[in-house]
Amino acid sequence: MSGQPAPRRTVLKGAVLAGAAGLGVAACSTESKLGHAKPLPSTPVDLGAADEVPVGGAKLYREQRILVSCPSEGKYKAFSAQCTHAGCVLDKIEKGEGNCPCHGSRFDVTTGEALQGPATVPLPAIPVRVEGGKLITGAAGAATSDPDA
Ligand code: FES
Repeated sequence: MSGQPAPRRTVLKGAVLAGAAGLGVAACSTESKLGHAKPLPSTPVDLGAADEVPVGGAKLYREQRILVSCPSEGKYKAFSAQCTHAGCVLDKIEKGEGNCPCHGSRFDVTTGEALQGPATVPLPAIPVRVEGGKLITGAAGAATSDPDA
């Protein structure tokens, strides 16, 4: 009867491993709830006066989750302001870098490049244009899906 304890140990090991696997699943679920894959608006967004973005600087539109920089007079670049690590919205711009308040990632406001981790993926670029002095982000043809247009 010396063979019985071994299967019992095997069963216990299996239970421990199953518990650990369950924790792993819970951690992944928590991460996805942080907004990792929250899509940007697909329709054009009016951000207001273009001259609110300083030349050589950038402005954060937290409510719209958009970052706009102006590397030179009349030239604008827009990016998602949602961190590519786990989805937090950037909270401020310092020295040409967008800061994520959650885990400290930093992004170049003129290229979207991740300068400091844990994020490694750049901020996605968004089309931006100026119409009547206002900044409009989003696809230029997005509003033409209206049959009356
Ligand atoms: S969500 Fe931005 S650094 Fe983690």
